[in-house]
Amino acid sequence: MVNAPRKTKAKEAHSASQNETTQAGFGFKPTAPEMRTKLVRDVFESVAPKYDVMNDIMSLGIHRLWKRDFVGQIEPLASDAILDLAGGTGDIAFLMEKARSKTIQPKNKITICDINPAMLDVGKQRAMDKGLHGKFNWVEGNAEELPFDDNSFDIVTIAFGLRNVTRLSKALADIRRTLKPGGRFYCLEFSHIPVPLLQKLYDRYSFNFLPWAGEKVAGDRAAYQYLAESIRAFPEQQALVKLMQDAGFSAVRYRNMSLGVAAVHSGFKA
Ligand SMILES: C[S@@+](CC[C@H](N)C(=O)[O-])C[C@H]1O[C@@H](n2cnc3c(N)ncnc32)[C@H](O)[C@@H]1O
Repeated sequence: MVNAPRKTKAKEAHSASQNETTQAGFGFKPTAPEMRTKLVRDVFESVAPKYDVMNDIMSLGIHRLWKRDFVGQIEPLASDAILDLAGGTGDIAFLMEKARSKTIQPKNKITICDINPAMLDVGKQRAMDKGLHGKFNWVEGNAEELPFDDNSFDIVTIAFGLRNVTRLSKALADIRRTLKPGGRFYCLEFSHIPVPLLQKLYDRYSFNFLPWAGEKVAGDRAAYQYLAESIRAFPEQQALVKLMQDAGFSAVRYRNMSLGVAAVHSGFKA
């Protein structure tokens, strides 16, 4: 059984990420940036086949509500050029495609970009199974060095991806670079509960249940220990607002979901 972190330890990992805008560790373990990116890639390669079922188990299906709410806030149009970054197995892109094709059939494809081909392969198969074959461009790429031209997209989304990126400010700057002027950026990510007692209860769940379920279902306890630690180490809501502002986004704001367990941050390129 793994205990919840002492508050000081969690705070150290968090403040390091705030100062450097590079995530200083793989979860709580101090790790060099290149090594961290490789370790994160290994995590998702290992869990890819069980990723979707684990999401349902860990969140009791609540991640589906968060994702629907997220896309509901965005209201994509059929004409929008859209990038779903760290798109993994496709959940957000599938919902965006559904939302934007309600009235007019879109002519362009949504781009799904992820650093991990194993996650994209699962996504491609899911798109086929859902009859969505041919609706998406699947691109392997790192959020820190996006393989897209300047001013390419009207909307960039990233869901539960930014926390896994090593150089946060580099990624945010590159996202802004690929947006057209007036383009919008939306980030859905695990966040922090502003009520200490509730945060403590949530830590208990995260640091005990998640690694246990990871071992039983996905056969990878370490990957889900990383998940719990990376959530705790990720910048708090207001710190992420600041990072986005520093990267040049305008009108940055956030909205908590489920009391701050997750949050949606948004901004646009003026
Ligand atoms: C928790 S999954 C989220 C997948 C999907 N967006 C969803 O909401 O279900 C995180 C994804 O981020 C990807 N990822 C991690 N680091 C990345 C990076 N530097 N650039 C692009 N994708 C990255 C992983 O490969 C993984 O598919």
